[in-house]
Amino acid sequence: MTIGIGVVGAGIMGADHARTLATHVGGAELVAVSDPDERRASEAARANGARRHYTDGFALIEDEAVEAVVIASPDHTHAGLVLACLRTGKPVLCEKPVAPTVGECLELVEAERRTGRMI
Ligand SMILES: NC(=O)c1ccc[n+]([C@@H]2O[C@H](COP(=O)([O-])OP(=O)(O)OC[C@H]3O[C@@H](n4cnc5c(N)ncnc54)[C@H](O)[C@@H]3O)[C@@H](O)[C@H]2O)c1
Repeated sequence: MTIGIGVVGAGIMGADHARTLATHVGGAELVAVSDPDERRASEAARANGARRHYTDGFALIEDEAVEAVVIASPDHTHAGLVLACLRTGKPVLCEKPVAPTVGECLELVEAERRTGRMI
């Protein structure tokens, strides 16, 4: 069984996550990469065997082939993207910091608690 993973952000960390998922993580299939810089997104996707690339991280999260998400975009984008993952019920690994302020971090913890799936 494989899990389709999407990576949001194709900079230093995102490209590294994409490469790691494609080469070292059994059971993971990199299916999509997003970055507002389309060339960066397409290169990270192509280099790591992903079928699709997006310029919009929210569109990647909505992609049915994406079953779990890694967020590696800039700090200020994290909270909205994590919330979108929680709304769609997709497991998410977010680069640190999860959000730039304590208040936003607490909002995300509460949002996850409301899903009833918090470990
Ligand atoms: N570089 C590190 O050593 C390191 C270590 C730990 C955590 N982090 C965290 O990882 C995250 C990414 O850092 P980085 O060093 O890869 O940055 P980076 O600047 O190399 O890459 C960020 C990428 O995100 C893209 N981007 C911008 N807005 C976006 C959006 N709305 N949606 C999707 N992508 C978007 C940019 O075009 C860029 O390609 C940050 O939250 C950072 O704090 C970085």
